[in-house]
Amino acid sequence: MRVIIEPNYEKLSQWAADYVVNKINAAKPTAEKPFVLGLPTGSSPIGMYKALVQAVKDGRVSFKNVVTFNMDEYVNLPEEHPESYHSFMAKNLFDHIDCPKENIHLLNGNAEDLAAECAHYEQMIQEAGGIDLFIGGIGPDGHIAFNEPGSSLTSRTRQKTLTTDTRVANSRFFGGDPESVPATALTVGVGTVMSAKEVLILCNGHNKSRALQAAIEGPVTQMWTISVLQMHEHGIIVCDEAACECITHGTYKYFKDIEKDNL
Ligand code: GLP
Repeated sequence: MRVIIEPNYEKLSQWAADYVVNKINAAKPTAEKPFVLGLPTGSSPIGMYKALVQAVKDGRVSFKNVVTFNMDEYVNLPEEHPESYHSFMAKNLFDHIDCPKENIHLLNGNAEDLAAECAHYEQMIQEAGGIDLFIGGIGPDGHIAFNEPGSSLTSRTRQKTLTTDTRVANSRFFGGDPESVPATALTVGVGTVMSAKEVLILCNGHNKSRALQAAIEGPVTQMWTISVLQMHEHGIIVCDEAACECITHGTYKYFKDIEKDNL
């Protein structure tokens, strides 16, 4: 696993955006062989999305031949609700870049048959040739997408019940009331993320420092689902100084040292 430690959120976001731009450009995607990107929501990726929008405006990258799959969506929240992940993605990324509508995939949390929706999503990912780069954030409890503590580390896309911790954390987007946060969501599984050719996790802020410690220094455990990244061939975490509070000084120095020449 690579761990990139950036001084602050702005630098972390720019690093992540540049990484994505370079990956897309290096793949030289075409309509026949698009680049397949897995995308997260939450506050962590907002800075990266801003930088990606700027990169498109500056002509540094195009999303014309990029296919996207989002990680998750609330169940029973109308798509047009301002806090749906459909709305979030339109507002923060898709309305501002040149990605064709038909290349964009989000789970439908209002589907009649949620199990069929999830199975179909996995099938579409497979048909697209698998995900080249899955980008994710993590919750303070180390969850990835909506794979809460205790989720199977081999899970695939399915409906999950959200923990009280997550509903409390996400209540800041729902007027501060945890009860207003939908109780369940559709989410790609830990196994779905692990099947990507590469995984890039964004981790910023003091409130993620325990999760970062568990991810890097702890054992692989279903109680911190992000820890499974230790088993991925190409896992990267890009974090800021604030998130490094709980890792040991030695670990901090080690990654600073080995990554100092890698931009
Ligand atoms: C939600 C999302 C996750 C995200 C997490 C952290 O639970 N389903 O994908 O990583 O929130 O969000 P934030 O980046 O706002 O801290």
